[in-house]
Amino acid sequence: MESTTNLSGPMETHEILEQLRAESPARIEHAATVDELEILAAEVTGKHSPIAAGRRSLGSVPPDERRDLGRAINDVAVELNSLIDTRRAALEAVEASKALEGDRVDVTLPGRVPERGTTHLIQQVMDEIVDIFVAMGYTAATGPEAETEFYNFTALNFPVAHPTRLESDTLYLDYGDVPEEILLRTHTSPMQARYMERHDPPVYLVVPGRVFRRDQLDPTHSPVFHQIEGLAVDTDITFGDLKGVLDHFAREFLGPDIKTKFIPHHFPFTEPSAEMHVYTNDRWMELIGCGMVNPAVFEAVGYDPDEVTGFAFGMGADRLAMVRHGITDLRHLFDPDRRILEQYR
Ligand code: DAH
Repeated sequence: MESTTNLSGPMETHEILEQLRAESPARIEHAATVDELEILAAEVTGKHSPIAAGRRSLGSVPPDERRDLGRAINDVAVELNSLIDTRRAALEAVEASKALEGDRVDVTLPGRVPERGTTHLIQQVMDEIVDIFVAMGYTAATGPEAETEFYNFTALNFPVAHPTRLESDTLYLDYGDVPEEILLRTHTSPMQARYMERHDPPVYLVVPGRVFRRDQLDPTHSPVFHQIEGLAVDTDITFGDLKGVLDHFAREFLGPDIKTKFIPHHFPFTEPSAEMHVYTNDRWMELIGCGMVNPAVFEAVGYDPDEVTGFAFGMGADRLAMVRHGITDLRHLFDPDRRILEQYR
């Protein structure tokens, strides 16, 4: 609506002003937004409005009519501008409060708590077991999961034809043409040999880690599980020391009233060997393999079996977690279902 209104004479100007004065208030009142109002204001009182045209025409109006017409134009302009200003203020107030409403923060809403991850139960249990031994002066170390047949079996006095060396029990890695077979370690015991090769006695060592066997996943077996190995080598270490240390561990981990017993067993790398059982949930349960370090192992790592004695032990962290937390199916521990895992925060 940019057309310039041409007024032909004072009488006509008066009529147009009257019409403007009659129609504009309702239109101003109906403007729904500040933008709409500004367009209307330009039309009603702006440069191309009848009011502006009227003012421009004043020069050609006969002098005796000029004053009256000028005043009439001014009155209408003042009146309409005042209505426009009032309406603008009202619309601005509405728009401002709408913007505020949009930005409103409901401080009574419950906060959004960010989800936090936690240490997996098995890791918690391994950390705790390691801590119990560290408190007794043991050092913690870890070793490779891909291991040589020498450290996993030979250095630990496994006979060449021992059945656990077979592919039916052990997962071998295909490294092509290598001088020695590489396998996924079947236990954490190879670290006994690795550690003793690099450190002189005395040795007080714990080794937490992941181990692998060719087993099907079932309620009590998994092809991947976790062990903590222990080794103490010093002068005059006895089987009594072994029993005292493992008894202490069982009380720390399972409670001061836990009952333990040691029954004979066989492992190639210990002699004599035993299993420690604990009485829990109304029955005896095998918990830890252990024994006095076989002199053949000392020889394999360059220790003199006449100078030192020692004991070793190995336990399954997954199994210890199950015993302590009453978990009956090992597979729950490897299930990524958070409803299960979150119970062990
Ligand atoms: N390495 C054995 C296993 O995986 C556990 C074990 C038994 C470790 C006796 C030891 C030990 O250090 O002395 O079944």
